[in-house]
Amino acid sequence: MRLFIDTANIDQICEFAWLIDGVTTNPSLVAREKRPLEEVIEEICGIVDGPINAEVSSLDLDGIIADARRLAGLNDKIVVKIPMGEVGLRAIAALSAEGVQTNATLVFSANQALLAAKCGATYVSPFVGRIDDVGGDGMSVVSEIIDVYDNYGFDTEIIVASVRHPRHVLDAALLGADIATVPHAVLKKMFTHPLTDVGIERFMNDLKGRSG
Ligand code: E4P
Repeated sequence: MRLFIDTANIDQICEFAWLIDGVTTNPSLVAREKRPLEEVIEEICGIVDGPINAEVSSLDLDGIIADARRLAGLNDKIVVKIPMGEVGLRAIAALSAEGVQTNATLVFSANQALLAAKCGATYVSPFVGRIDDVGGDGMSVVSEIIDVYDNYGFDTEIIVASVRHPRHVLDAALLGADIATVPHAVLKKMFTHPLTDVGIERFMNDLKGRSG
């Protein structure tokens, strides 16, 4: 399973550049950095050897396609995130035919993911945390997408997004999702377990007792 980091913060990306397989950003994450999108994305491309996801800001078809071509032209690593919807999928179909890597984002149902795959999206991003937030079950949507893609042999890869806690990452791995994109804070939590800390402390105390 591949792990992406879900941030546009350079310090956070540098901290885990040795571990991660790619990066996802979105307009909210980039806005926090108070720098132009292109500048941040090009810097990230210099740090991480893997797909770097950058989102279009237009909503109309011509604008989305122009944004996508501009972003994709910055670096071969760039995957263009395009919001789900009829216009977004028309753009994904056109861009896929040109060889631009795309990520259908803001996906909340398996039917949306089915359409994204039919349009040739390289990646699809179900937002599990936001589904859970409104009382749904984000992971059951991921499970349905996996079944649909397996039934028809779609190549579109599933990025489990809007991850809120380590359990989301584990559930994504148990389901066999291709990728989880994980915020910095959640990634930090995945390293730890209270029993690991207790175990280390006990070993250290025992070592001290033996040498003293
Ligand atoms: C994914 O590509 C998105 O950037 C992200 O996971 C959104 O997560 P949020 O629901 O925490 O904003």
